[in-house]
Amino acid sequence: MSLRWSEALIMDAPADTGNGRVKAAAVAPRPSQPSVMAFAAWHSLFWLVFANAVGVLLATLLLFPSLNHVLGEWTYGRWMPVHINLQLYGWCSIPLVAFLFKVYGADRKPASHWCRSTLWIWSSALGVGTLSWLNGHSSGKLFLDWTGYSRILFPLALTILWCLLAFSFAKGRNNGVPSSFKANATKITGLILLLAVPVLIYIAASPDLYPPVNPDSGGPTGASQLESSLVIVAVLLLLPFGLTHLKTQRPWPVPIAWITLGIEVLLCLGLGRTDVSHHRPIQYISLGSLLVWIPLTPAYFGAFEWNSNTQRWRTAFICWWAVLVPTGWFLFLPGVLDHFKFTDGLVGHSLLAMAGFVSSLLIFVMVQLLAEDGWILNGAWSFWAWHGSVLAYVLLMFVAGWREGLDPAFTVIPGRARTTIYASRLLLGALMLIASGDWLRKASGLFRETGASHISDPLEQMR
Ligand code: HEM
Repeated sequence: MSLRWSEALIMDAPADTGNGRVKAAAVAPRPSQPSVMAFAAWHSLFWLVFANAVGVLLATLLLFPSLNHVLGEWTYGRWMPVHINLQLYGWCSIPLVAFLFKVYGADRKPASHWCRSTLWIWSSALGVGTLSWLNGHSSGKLFLDWTGYSRILFPLALTILWCLLAFSFAKGRNNGVPSSFKANATKITGLILLLAVPVLIYIAASPDLYPPVNPDSGGPTGASQLESSLVIVAVLLLLPFGLTHLKTQRPWPVPIAWITLGIEVLLCLGLGRTDVSHHRPIQYISLGSLLVWIPLTPAYFGAFEWNSNTQRWRTAFICWWAVLVPTGWFLFLPGVLDHFKFTDGLVGHSLLAMAGFVSSLLIFVMVQLLAEDGWILNGAWSFWAWHGSVLAYVLLMFVAGWREGLDPAFTVIPGRARTTIYASRLLLGALMLIASGDWLRKASGLFRETGASHISDPLEQMR
């Protein structure tokens, strides 16, 4: 892993002035890059706020189920896929789209003019998806709910993104943008893999296709848990190469991390993809191999140079990761999973993973991409409100899940303990919604601030 590779993957990382803000002069002339990144941040934050508002509605309905009557057909069961799909395909995916813009140089002219439209197409596909879920169209598959028009529209949005990336890459090569052989090979491999994604999503959304199942829990097997976790690890390892540079010529954590990932992929392939119980030692022992990433991840990220305004979100995602990996593994152990499966305990685990770890990682990525504009995500109040609420929410759900494991009627029959937990969850959700609303408000303010110069008509920018 050479220094040149990471440098070539990002050609125009802005210089950090040390105070977390990058002076306009340091990146003069200021390219259209901030507008593309600000746009992407705005779209993803919009979906975060929208999905969080739906989450607050869901928490209210769980507390007062009779409210479902006033919602007509759009009751709890219709809003649930809206909440989780928008969190995944809106909030969690768009920062990665911004990352791809950066890696393939789509944030540079002339491709930068098309980034804005690509983001609107993406968001429109989510809008159509939302209407279709609310109107009761569902494949019944978690996170693969694309049916009818939306099953075509979302893969189409992915294909348009792919075309933009391929165009930017080709344009960069034609214009002689310097890039090493390794960086080019990585980008071409990335394009080949990304080309398969729309097709895979279309096929996987079919209700006829089933993943392997753990017969003792009805959920995923150890092998499929390991497989999806390794995809996250691979994304973690790739991210820095598209965002920044290595600190030194010989960063020992980098080769060690990639070799470890290679060994774990082999282990995962060896486990096969059949229906198998979590009571089989090979399943939970293999999943335990993920624990090695607790020390390795901070060492790996420490080997790279980061904008100083990313510090608090980098610490946050590494801390959530250090909690997520051992608790996730513990929840899969025989006896524990049997107690927690289908309880609020796993809702707590989902929130720890998504709102704690994944959201912190994505905000860290966005702050790095936004550079001087990253301050919009760095407010102290919203930072602590978010993490405090997520932590308390997770703990409450673990307690509820434990009680539910002992007494399955705990969450069904209203009682003082259950009502207190659900009311507290609603308050914490409202706090998270306010924190995310603060980020969106600041992102919108960015447009007013940079206004005409960055967000104007593309034709005007070309003049
Ligand atoms: C305002 C903040 C939020 C509130 C109030 C909220 C509320 C809820 C509620 C009530 C459920 C249903 C739980 C059940 O089935 O009993 C849920 C599920 C879920 N939420 Fe949220 N949520 C919020 C934020 C988030 C965020 C930020 C993410 C991801 C980035 C997220 C991801 C999920 C997932 C994946 C599930 C499915 C859990 C499972 O069934 O295992 N939520 N949420």
